[in-house]
Amino acid sequence: MNTMAEAIDKTTGAMSASELAGGIHSRATVGDFTVADPRMSCRDVDVWYGSKQAIKGVSLDIAQNEVLSMIGPSGCGKSTFLRCLNRMNDTIDGCRVTGSIRLDGQDIYDRSLDPVPLRARVGMVFQKPNPFPKSIYENVAYGPRIHGLTNNRTELDALVESSLRKAGLWEEVKDRLDQPGTGLSGGQQQRLCIARTIAVSPEVILMDEPCSALDPIATAIVEELIDELRANYSIAIVTHSMQQAARVSQRTAYFHLGDLIEVGETNDIFTNPRHKLTEDYITGRFG
Ligand SMILES: Nc1ncnc2c1ncn2[C@@H]1O[C@H](COP(=O)(O)OP(=O)(O)OP(=O)(O)O)[C@@H](O)[C@H]1O
Ligand SMILES: [Mg+2]
Repeated sequence: MNTMAEAIDKTTGAMSASELAGGIHSRATVGDFTVADPRMSCRDVDVWYGSKQAIKGVSLDIAQNEVLSMIGPSGCGKSTFLRCLNRMNDTIDGCRVTGSIRLDGQDIYDRSLDPVPLRARVGMVFQKPNPFPKSIYENVAYGPRIHGLTNNRTELDALVESSLRKAGLWEEVKDRLDQPGTGLSGGQQQRLCIARTIAVSPEVILMDEPCSALDPIATAIVEELIDELRANYSIAIVTHSMQQAARVSQRTAYFHLGDLIEVGETNDIFTNPRHKLTEDYITGRFG
């Protein structure tokens, strides 16, 4: 059997897809996975669905006030890794996560840590906008209410308004707050879901292909919003659009068959990838 050293090409660090599939995997991600000001720090994270390993020894930091994009072929583990960051995988039978994941230095898998408040601190926006079957107002007010974030209706009204403003939706909905959230357009629904996430004061926002159900105009609005949100939050976004990754993120992580192959400044990843697998993917040779 090949040793790790033999499997890694001497000059480029490249491993072939078959070597990766064969179980030899690159704990040595190309590029620096650490940052000076981490909001979240993941080290040696493995994820298993039953006997199938979906994430293999991934170490990766997410900085404060950055947008980190995660790219890679379908099935490489992007959603699985993202779900580790707020323990959404806890809800999947047979899913096991090992390694260390810290938020502001605190181990989020610590047995004493309640995942419910964690999921307010690390919020999630999904591929398909999923407003609750409630009014626009109630969609945003729900989280603050269950987490007891406001003391009275005046405070709650103010929080609903400021969250909708931050999500760039206030002007479009201020006169119809009592109408159903599901009656909005797709792009508006996704911004409503972002407002709902923001309303509980997260530190990190996870987004799993948030624009894949949106048209180009709604996508552009959400991308602009992501850039604005960076001033206050750390954002990790999974995307199949390399143009989107290039537009919205400062750093990019490339995954392949459960391995984190390469991470670096977005501009460097797209103009000067160091690993052959990254290069093959971004030049459209597979994926
Ligand atoms: N609930 C689950 N049970 C069992 N296996 C799963 C489950 N979810 C994902 N997997 C497997 O884990 C691997 C990674 O899947 P994941 O959904 O994380 O990939 P992805 O990169 O997000 O793909 P896509 O780009 O298609 O969304 C795949 O082999 C997938 O089949
Ligand atoms: Mg996915």
